[in-house]
Amino acid sequence: MSKEGICMKLKIAVLSGDGVGPEVTEQAVKALDAVGDYFGHEFSFHEALVGATAINKTGSPLPQETIDICKSCNSVLFGAIGDPKFDNDPNTKVYPEQGLLGIRKELELYQNIRPVIVYNYLLNNSPLKPENARGTNILIYRELTGGIFFGNKGVSEDGQTAFDACTYTVEEIERIAHAAFKSAQGRKKKLTLVDKSNVLETSRLWRRTVIAMSKEYPNVNVELMYVDQAAAKIILNPKSFDVILTANLIGDFISEEASSLVGSKGIMASASLGDKYSLFEPIHGSYPVATNKGIANPIGAILSAAMLLEHFKLITEAKAIKSAIMKAMELNLTTPDLNNLKPLSTEKIGDFIADYICNPDLTNFNIENIYLGQSTII
Ligand code: IPM
Ligand code: MN
Repeated sequence: MSKEGICMKLKIAVLSGDGVGPEVTEQAVKALDAVGDYFGHEFSFHEALVGATAINKTGSPLPQETIDICKSCNSVLFGAIGDPKFDNDPNTKVYPEQGLLGIRKELELYQNIRPVIVYNYLLNNSPLKPENARGTNILIYRELTGGIFFGNKGVSEDGQTAFDACTYTVEEIERIAHAAFKSAQGRKKKLTLVDKSNVLETSRLWRRTVIAMSKEYPNVNVELMYVDQAAAKIILNPKSFDVILTANLIGDFISEEASSLVGSKGIMASASLGDKYSLFEPIHGSYPVATNKGIANPIGAILSAAMLLEHFKLITEAKAIKSAIMKAMELNLTTPDLNNLKPLSTEKIGDFIADYICNPDLTNFNIENIYLGQSTII
């Protein structure tokens, strides 16, 4: 029985994918296992192939078996996809990325939610001046299953012309906009729609739709901003944003830009939600040069596991993970991206976080033992 009295059973598909995906996902699973033990929940994990790893084993970046496993589970924990082997061959017909795009479409994960938070512990890691970075807390809602990513595309027979069409329907805009409005209501009540409506017809449709919807959310202050202007403002005054709502491609760029403010992309988490399914993923990607070196930051993956728990209303449990992460940051127990003087390995950070989840009242840490990979308790 859990501390709250209710045992939650969750089946979680684990798609750890390529590059550093498996090593960081392992730490997220470790954290969830610790939460399961401490709070008395039953989490089971079901591995499936995706990305380059899946292509190498099956020929497909997203085998049907993987889709079936995801659909039979309550949620999906995703690692990363991508392999330079495929990037360097422009004629290849299969890409690891098709695995990620495919699973988003199959599970209808139309909302991609990316929190951009500058933690005080990492103020000196941000490329911004501390006074500009301090207090940044943006929640980006990126549309994830429409727009130019999924429109008609093609190349002419002579190979001299190519096109990618961008299409949106009011329905596609409304369903993510409702989620973003509701989220803004629980925050600072400000929603910034980022678009290119001075040029693009789809952006004008976003504006008309969001303006019409704003009447349903009278307590939310709606701000309309062109993407070029927003790109500058995210760097100059990130604190001026609360919730950002935007289309697929713009959201890809803007969220990547914003993630560079927090000190390390390695700590960025995300949730991709649909009406039926959900997927949680660090945003750092496969980081091929770091693979199996123990230097990949597992915090993005572990925070994504905390977002998974929040999604299932396990708020205290999610807080337990976040407190452990904060403790690791406070004690400077981090990977070389944040601490190149005395970095800790991916695995040891995972061990510390799992230990701390099970021993939250701990105050006496034997830091040397943590570096040696021994218990954190003494
Ligand atoms: C992301 C990634 C993906 C995207 C790629 C890998 C297809 O960049 O999740 O932001 O562009 O959506
Ligand atoms: Mn991206």
